[in-house]
Order: sequence, then structure tokens, then C-alpha cells
Amino acid sequence: MSPPRTAAIIVAAGKGERAGGDVPKQFASLAGRPMLAHSYTALLAHPAIGDVIVVIGAGQEDVLRSAVGEARHVIGGATRRDSVLAGLAAVEGADRVLIHDAARPFLSAAVIDRLLAALDNAPGAVPALPVTDTIARAGSDLGDTIDRSNVVRVQTPQAFWLENLRAAQAAWPAGQEATDDAQVLRAHGGQVMTVEGDPMLEKVTHAADFAAAEARHAAAMISRSASGYDVHRLEAGEELWLGGVLIPHDKGLSGHSDADVALHAITDALLGTIAAGDIGSHFPPSDPQWKGAASDQFLAHAAALVTARGGVVDFVDLTIICEAPKIGPHRESIRMRIADILRLDASQVSVKATTTERLGFTGRGEGIAAQAVATVRVPRV
Ligand code: CTP
Ligand code: MG
Repeated sequence: MSPPRTAAIIVAAGKGERAGGDVPKQFASLAGRPMLAHSYTALLAHPAIGDVIVVIGAGQEDVLRSAVGEARHVIGGATRRDSVLAGLAAVEGADRVLIHDAARPFLSAAVIDRLLAALDNAPGAVPALPVTDTIARAGSDLGDTIDRSNVVRVQTPQAFWLENLRAAQAAWPAGQEATDDAQVLRAHGGQVMTVEGDPMLEKVTHAADFAAAEARHAAAMISRSASGYDVHRLEAGEELWLGGVLIPHDKGLSGHSDADVALHAITDALLGTIAAGDIGSHFPPSDPQWKGAASDQFLAHAAALVTARGGVVDFVDLTIICEAPKIGPHRESIRMRIADILRLDASQVSVKATTTERLGFTGRGEGIAAQAVATVRVPRV
């Protein structure tokens, strides 16, 4: 029997009225990225999830693209439930579905694993956390206390067998709002299991929640730095690609790919931060598909691996070591190009150059060397 196929829907069509701000909260910057990008990457990177559909508001295509690149998306509706229905209508070829709020950015693979495991025994599963405060009925006169051992805080993603959720949604009274999907399944008699939730999944609702989410994220991350180093031979009749920029020179670097030593050194530094081997193990020189390849794709791949682990690239420092050409005139274009490939601000990229005083192979102009240090933050394990 083939394993069940799983799709994910992120509802991101809300107006974020309680949070305020210039853009709806799901597109506002949080921990270095638009809020939506955090859970989108986490779902996309999970090995069991084959399809991620983002539900956005009408006219938000551009803001979506700048947040996460090209993503499968549909237009949502006036209420959260309308947005969920739009997402569900777009699911194809899946047996299970995860429905997630863009407003809960920090989603770990462990929570997804727990939910999918629970679906082996029930048509639905939700992450839940215990309540620690005293809970009482509201009013100017405090109402009765509710036994907190009888209540939990329900989060998203919520996981379902698609057929069960579709049937339950079809039976739900039209026009009646549901704040989540578990209650829709339960109303249709479907059992919803709870799995351990995650304080990192707390919803960002009000403006003040941004600072709290920022702090939660910071506390969950550790900083790591790693170095990279590369050398290529200078030969007549080759193009000189350095830092993703074509530089006019009487010689160029030779190698299997475009031999861009600068991008190769940064690629290795990034791979080093997540102990993911080196550029040769990801793009073997023996593989003909990398012959003459532009090295920006190697760097983008390394950055994507960092992102897939929930990491953020904080800074890249590059040193190019050669006698000629002079790097100074090209320094800014190299900086901008590297920032562009890594989707960083130029202030997060430093480009330096040095000669070796005519000593050694770089001094004799036989080759160019580059070294890089990358600093990233990754989730604490
Ligand atoms: N949502 C949606 N479509 C709607 C309303 C909400 O996709 N019509 C999404 C939101 O984008 C969010 C999630 O549902 O990811 C949870 O909703 P909430 O936190 O209430 O977000 P907003 O509705 O955007 O915020 P507010 O209620 O303050 O306006
Ligand atoms: Mg709302």
C-alpha cells in the first residue's frame, strides 16, 4: 500500500485588524522574514508534505511572491472558514490535509510528525497546550471559575483525513462561523485527537505579540559560524566570474562549473553552518550536469538548506585573494549580487580583497583563492 499523500493549506487571507500595521500581519516582518515565510518553508521542507497551498486575500499576489517566491495560492473569503473552504477546494491528489494559520509562524517538524502519527488512529488531530492561569467567566463581577484541568488551548496546524473534513465542512450550517476546523469535524461526529502543542506556535494577534514572538524566536535560536575556502586556476580563454559578476580580464578561472571561487567559498561556509558536507558532495564535479554551470545556483541551494532547517543567514564575509584583477572597482556589484542571491540586505554582506605581495600561486597570477565566513542562526536542538 502506498503511503498517504499529504497536502497543507496556510490560511493567510485575514486583514490582521487587531495587529494593525501597514500590511496585514502575515506579511509583516518577523524574525528577519515576512511572518508567512516561516511556516510556509517549514511545511514545504517536511518530507511527508507534497503540496502547500497558501490562501491569500484578493490582490495580494505580489506581496505573496515577495514573501515566499512562486507559491501555489488561491484567493480566500470574508471569514477564516471561507478561506479554509477555498483552500480545500484546491487540494488535489491528497489523502490527508494540514490546515495552518499564517499567524502562527514558528512551526517545527516535530509538531507535524506528532499530528500525522495521530491520524493513524483518528480522522482529526490538533496540537494543544494546558492552561496554567485560573480561568473564570468574564464580567464586571468575576464569574465562576472553570476547572482548568478540563480545558486546553488548541493551536494549528490541524490535521485531517481529507474525506472526513470535506464531509464535515459540507454538513456545517452555511453562514455559521467556525474559529477552527476541529470543531467542524467534531460537529459531524468525527473524533479529534490532541497531541502535544508547542509554545512556539502561539498566535500573533495584537501588535504587542510581535515583540513576544520575536523574543520567543530569539531564545530558540543559536548562532553558528563556519568558514569556506576555494581555489581555481587562471587560464587564458576563460571568462572570469567572481562573486556572481562577470569581470573583464585577460584570463578567467577554469573548473568544471563557472569556477566562481568566491561563490564556492560562501557556499561551503553556509553548508558548514549546518554541517551539511561541502559543495563537492552536493554538486559532484564528476556529474556532467554541472559542466559550465553558473555557481549562483549552488549558493542558492546552500541557503535553501539553511532555511529548510528553520535557520536564518545573518552575515557573510568574503575575502578574495589575487594579484589581478583589482577587485575594488567591482566590490559593490559583487556585494549586491551576493545579497541578491541570498535575499539579504547589502549591509549583511562584506566583500574584501587582498594580494599576497606577489608571493605564492596567487602572487604569480596562476590562480585566485577565496575564503568566506558565514554566520547563521539555527534552531537549538
Ligand atoms: N484568515 C483568513 N481569511 C479570513 C480571516 C482570517 O485566511 N477571512 C486567516 C488569517 O490570515 C490568520 C488565521 O486565519 O492566518 C487566523 O485568523 P486571525 O488571527 O483572526 O487573523 P486576522 O483575521 O487576519 O486578524 P484580525 O481578526 O485581527 O483581523
Ligand atoms: Mg480574524
